[in-house]
Amino acid sequence: MAKNLVLIGFMGTGKSTAGKQCARLLNRPFIDTDALIVERAGKPIPQIFADEGEAVFREWEQRVVAEIAAGENQVVSTGGGVMLNPNNVALLRASGCVVLLTAKTFAIMRRVGDCRTRPMLANVKDPYTHVVELNAKRAPYYELSADLLVDSTDRPVEEVVKEILERYEQTTARQAAEEER
Ligand code: S3P
Repeated sequence: MAKNLVLIGFMGTGKSTAGKQCARLLNRPFIDTDALIVERAGKPIPQIFADEGEAVFREWEQRVVAEIAAGENQVVSTGGGVMLNPNNVALLRASGCVVLLTAKTFAIMRRVGDCRTRPMLANVKDPYTHVVELNAKRAPYYELSADLLVDSTDRPVEEVVKEILERYEQTTARQAAEEER
């Protein structure tokens, strides 16, 4: 069985962009938890937050993660809050290799663009400081969930993707050898 390649990390670390390229190069389907939620819920993420609140959005996340983790041979990009839920962590870790993408705050801000379209940043006075604080609070959860860590700051996506794929192949080969022993 080919394990899933799961990209996790804070918003603006390049998970979706890198994930799409990894999927293309591995010739596997690409699945983005946020995109699947939008499809299932029939409305955009900011609208789910506005109409039903964050708790309902997190329930959607759990549902789509359970669905995705039951599949194999996929490249998966996760929303920045997915790995704060221990059930999601257990399911995704069991389903494959988990790669944490990190980036410095200036790179995150550049990628995030208009904060008003991001529910976690839309109503804060100082988005830069909020990103620093929220990322610092979440970093231990991300790090404990990950098999590998790749930094995307100031690097072309092709280089990030190359590193992800090389280390993913090494890790899955090592894990398979250990399982055989
Ligand atoms: C969130 C990150 C977003 C999206 C939602 C909540 C978060 O995804 O799931 O707005 O809690 O960090 P990205 O990490 O893909 O931006």
